[in-house]
Amino acid sequence: MKPITVIGNWKSNKTRAEVSEWFNSFASLVHQQQLPSYIRVILALPFVHLPLAQHLIQDLSLPITLAAQNCSAYDQGAYTGEIAAAMLKDYVSYCLIGHSERRLLFHETDDILAEKVRNSAHIGLRVIFCVPDAETAIPKGVSLVAYEPVWAIGSGKAASPTDAQLIAEKIRERVNLPVVYGGSVNAENIDAFIQMPDITGVLPGGASLNSATFHTLIQAIHEI
Ligand code: PGA
Repeated sequence: MKPITVIGNWKSNKTRAEVSEWFNSFASLVHQQQLPSYIRVILALPFVHLPLAQHLIQDLSLPITLAAQNCSAYDQGAYTGEIAAAMLKDYVSYCLIGHSERRLLFHETDDILAEKVRNSAHIGLRVIFCVPDAETAIPKGVSLVAYEPVWAIGSGKAASPTDAQLIAEKIRERVNLPVVYGGSVNAENIDAFIQMPDITGVLPGGASLNSATFHTLIQAIHEI
């Protein structure tokens, strides 16, 4: 049985009330139809929602692991507005680093991203590192690579599973790490990605925002 990882990325979305609503309705869906044991669900949430989400996951006994969507390139200290990796350790097991939106909109360079990976890995967070192609630098300390072509993110136009497989294979030849695919993943295309030999999971953004959509997406995966 192939273990599969589904990483929901909420990006900069949801109020506190909406977070509670999402987890409560997801819990009732899981209660009706359990998540398959070979699927590991990770949710990358905005920093401010992590304590509440942690509390809800415990209270509702949900099989979900939390991730941050970013961390500071600096240690703790005089860096107003930053969240250091060490501050995240009590809330999350994973940290997403290098998402295209961070690279493009917030000008995060390979050097900055390497610092973020170093800080996260140093305190024991597992890093999910996003890359837009097979050539982008992948720093030491990464646990999982997410291949996300920029044009496929939020566009409704996913890569073809065979193209994604080719890139995943190249990435695995370079770094020998598990690779997930992200970019317009939905309930219709998810299984085709999962069937690819070098793709071990998916990273849906838009399709993770609604609990019913996310539950349907997970249930659309067939065991391999
Ligand atoms: P999308 O986002 O599923 O909405 O395309 C994926 C991502 O940006 O991680």
